Amino acid sequence: MSITVGIQGASGYTGGELVRLLARDPDISIKFVTSQRFAGQPMSAIFPHLINDPELVCTPLNDLSVVEGCDVVFCALPHVTSMGVVPELLKRGAKVVDLSADFRLDDADIYNEWYGEAHKAPELLSEAVYGLPELYRSNIKKARLVANPGCYPTSILLALAPLMQDNLIELDSLVIDSKSGTSGAGRSLNQGSLFSEVSEGFRSYKAVGHRHTPEIEQGLSQLCGKKVFVRFSPHLLPQSRGILTTCHLRPVGKKSAKEWQELYTNFYANEQFVRVLEPGNLPGTNYVRGSNYCHLSVVPDPRTGWLVVVSTIDNLVKGAAGQAVQNMNIMLGRNEDAAIGQLPLFP
Ligand SMILES: NC(=O)c1ccc[n+]([C@@H]2O[C@H](COP(=O)([O-])OP(=O)(O)OC[C@H]3O[C@@H](n4cnc5c(N)ncnc54)[C@H](OP(=O)(O)O)[C@@H]3O)[C@@H](O)[C@H]2O)c1
Repeated sequence: MSITVGIQGASGYTGGELVRLLARDPDISIKFVTSQRFAGQPMSAIFPHLINDPELVCTPLNDLSVVEGCDVVFCALPHVTSMGVVPELLKRGAKVVDLSADFRLDDADIYNEWYGEAHKAPELLSEAVYGLPELYRSNIKKARLVANPGCYPTSILLALAPLMQDNLIELDSLVIDSKSGTSGAGRSLNQGSLFSEVSEGFRSYKAVGHRHTPEIEQGLSQLCGKKVFVRFSPHLLPQSRGILTTCHLRPVGKKSAKEWQELYTNFYANEQFVRVLEPGNLPGTNYVRGSNYCHLSVVPDPRTGWLVVVSTIDNLVKGAAGQAVQNMNIMLGRNEDAAIGQLPLFP
């Protein structure tokens, strides 16, 4: 089966990762890649490791004639830009996986409140399927438009999903501490991401009010059927990629370490991209670097009675491009790990 895809925003970090992953798959043909700044230039001029044969040359975003005949288009564009093009892609018959935040929130007013923009395609919000395969696989299968989850929400929803049913934890005391590498902020010039600002240090940012908060709360609320609020604080790591999330939780009843472990291993028993680590092992960003895996550990604290759940992903792979390919595979009825299974660690 030959599948034709296009990648909008291929000169960015997540778009470049999409090219890296999709070019490995003999059944995929990349029809077009877009960039405004590098229009007319080959991908290898933007990312020297992306040498394709035949060479992929960037077109500008407004040349939508290239969309004709594409089975799937990936939008790896900034939010707001994305919602300007997605309706047109759907009209031209492509399935769409959007990596931006534009179609993740169900409510256009909440989008406006957190992103400061009126939604340009609110009629598509109820149709868009939230693309976290481990939780919403059956809806993704039927979707025309998938909203690929944010990187922090991916690490958090996978960490907390097994606890959201059956009244297992107190929902009014969810404390979530996340750390991300600098590629999470994208490739455009940004003083706060400069090497001398980030290296040899470690800092907090958006201690309250990060834009991923409503997405996390929406996801958790849907899982437990109640309105949930979270305390979510992100931090910036002096490394290029990787997210490590630590959730501090208060269990409702008492469970042994073995019971917590079983709850997690059973919940993810059939998931090839989520690995619940053996007791005694803890997640680290290096262990998932370049791969589509999420590693999880669940650790009860007998001294305080709290429960700690730690997760890690590569923000550019399971947190973005890898998960987008996983979603495409599900939408097209392919093996879920095509192009993303057995990924070598990033050099
Ligand atoms: N980075 C992550 O870890 C991560 C994780 C999950 C989701 N996301 C989301 O994925 C999307 C892409 O993120 P990224 O980190 O890859 O961003 P990025 O590195 O800044 O790349 C953005 C891409 O969009 C293009 N672009 C920017 N403004 C444009 C405009 N006005 N019109 C047309 N094209 C435009 C850029 O092209 P040129 O500059 O070459 O013109 C570039 O190809 C964002 O919505 C982001 O929130 C990112």
